[in-house]
Amino acid sequence: MAKIVILTGAGISAESGIRTFRASDGLWEEHRIEDVATPEGFVQDPDLVHRFYNARRAAATAAQPNPAHIALAELEADPGHEVLIVTQNVDDLHERGGSQNVLHMHGTLFGALCHSCEHRWPAPEVMSPTDSCPSCGAQATRPDIVWFGEMPYRMEEIWHALRAADLFVSIGTSGNVYPAAGFVADAMHAGVPTLELNLEPSAGRSMFDEARHGPASVLVPQWVRERLG
Ligand code: OAD
Repeated sequence: MAKIVILTGAGISAESGIRTFRASDGLWEEHRIEDVATPEGFVQDPDLVHRFYNARRAAATAAQPNPAHIALAELEADPGHEVLIVTQNVDDLHERGGSQNVLHMHGTLFGALCHSCEHRWPAPEVMSPTDSCPSCGAQATRPDIVWFGEMPYRMEEIWHALRAADLFVSIGTSGNVYPAAGFVADAMHAGVPTLELNLEPSAGRSMFDEARHGPASVLVPQWVRERLG
């Protein structure tokens, strides 16, 4: 049984029509991170932050999984592989592509979180600052997204899986945001082989044992076919 930890980023969903963050037409060209992806930005202008994530949620809902998402689900279904997908993505395309073992380290567009009591519930299609928490009643509803300055979810579990893995694969991520950008170094120090599948060399390219560059919809199914023999 080969244990594979797969880190995914915005690049795996790009061919489903979801915009990445750091491309020249990426989301961070149009929006300041400080305004829409920090707790301070939310306190400053909750309406703007909700509008930003409502638009992201609508785009994710309209998108369909592409051959890269579907190939990863096929790998997971193979009895010879134990696959954990650690995704930085807040869309649900891995799940809709058929993957079951998916860990959303940066949260999800489809969850709501009470800023006041930390209760979580499924997000409505459109969220607003006047929504009340179903548990404590506070009007402090935010998307269940990890913002800059906040700790990503389930880090202990991820590090544990990384150290126990037979292979670490990074797909569609620029390698700019920690702690995810550090997983290749963590794997390397644990003696775990590493593979990058990305449109272009990422910031961490030199640390990977092997790197293949091209669109995820081609590279990922190709790699999965090799694994499944
Ligand atoms: P980025 O936008 O930083 O990087 C996307 C990467 O995907 C780039 O290296 C692209 O070259 C690559 N890419 C684009 N299209 C591709 C394709 N069709 N096939 C394969 N690769 C492709 O996105 P992330 O690395 O995911 O965090 O960004 C990490 C985090 O930064 C995000 O989770 C988000 C953001 O700020 C938060 O909001 C907390």
